[in-house]
Amino acid sequence: MLAQRPPMGWNSWNTFGEKISEKIVMESADALVDLGYAAAGYEYIVIDDCWSLRERDESGRLVADPEKFPHGMKYLSDYIHAKGLKFGMYSCAGVLTCAGYPSSYGHEFTDAETFAEWGVDFLKYDFCNFPDSADTKQAYKTMAMALRATGREILFSACNWGVEEPWKWMRSIGAHMYRSTGDIFDNYVSMKEIADSQSENLAFSGAYCFNDMDMLTVGMYGKGNVAGESVQTDAEYRSQFVRWCLCGVPLMLGGDIRSMNGFSRNLVQNRELIAIDQDIECRPPYRFNDVESPNFFRLLSDGRIILAFFNYNDKESRQSIVLHDIGLPVYGGKGLKVRDVLTGEELGIFRELVEVPVGVHDCRILEAKIVDLA
Ligand code: GLA
Repeated sequence: MLAQRPPMGWNSWNTFGEKISEKIVMESADALVDLGYAAAGYEYIVIDDCWSLRERDESGRLVADPEKFPHGMKYLSDYIHAKGLKFGMYSCAGVLTCAGYPSSYGHEFTDAETFAEWGVDFLKYDFCNFPDSADTKQAYKTMAMALRATGREILFSACNWGVEEPWKWMRSIGAHMYRSTGDIFDNYVSMKEIADSQSENLAFSGAYCFNDMDMLTVGMYGKGNVAGESVQTDAEYRSQFVRWCLCGVPLMLGGDIRSMNGFSRNLVQNRELIAIDQDIECRPPYRFNDVESPNFFRLLSDGRIILAFFNYNDKESRQSIVLHDIGLPVYGGKGLKVRDVLTGEELGIFRELVEVPVGVHDCRILEAKIVDLA
């Protein structure tokens, strides 16, 4: 059974783009295990675009670029599996991948067999160079069936950037996650736009098929392949990771996990945040205000209530949630006992209103339990 909870792993694209190699992928697999990521739940090592030769072989098969991957993909797959991890690869529904390499349109069954022979456990399936005459849903259905026809369990990570409202049909056609937006960039605006655009769609996301808000940029600080106009602050990265966990979406790291700084590593390995992301009930967060600086609450399977505040402003602000608005009107005689998830600080019992200061482009995430008021 795949993707009962939001998939977690690392993908090569954000940091390395076309400059990938066997060495980088093996070192990243080592880092996932040696630096604590695997113990925190990250398990997939995914090679994105640019791994193949520019031509198929004479039997029509995709061929790994021998300069980048001298021992071939089965060797790499065995190495990754021996570490207790899972191996992911990339292809595309169009006639060429986004970077112009051979792609799976019309070759779905052959390519799925090739991936299965290489021991692939996860396929990211992109949407570039898609023929005008072709049908989007049909293309994703075909690869979903081709993967099933191999008999191997392969997580199908459909990446169609939100085209044709994938939240409405990707679950039915057998995808385990689906990209719902265009590409993320390593800046705060990009993060906000992606997250805000999906607030209304998260009710479709849940066990076995998750809304994929793209790979994280936490820890990149302007390095790599998706640099934004300005370097993000720690507060902005905190907001990104907290937002993804709040939304219960896949956590695919995009930074260089071999050298991520201590702040970023601790953030993405934060057990309490990951447990919120992975909550088995997969309830989406309830968003209060559609305008600037949204606040949310989310119900967890163990009875806790998560309250989250995001400050989009360029100055510190006080943000609040009125208990009436989460279904606890004053006449009910109930309040909330609140703890700060990031600092562990007990904030006491609140009645009527939870109000907290939130730093510039920062967030607060609190856990609460319902208590009787004296
Ligand atoms: C598209 C995808 C990205 C990445 C690149 C690779 O832009 O959305 O996530 O896979 O292609 O070329």
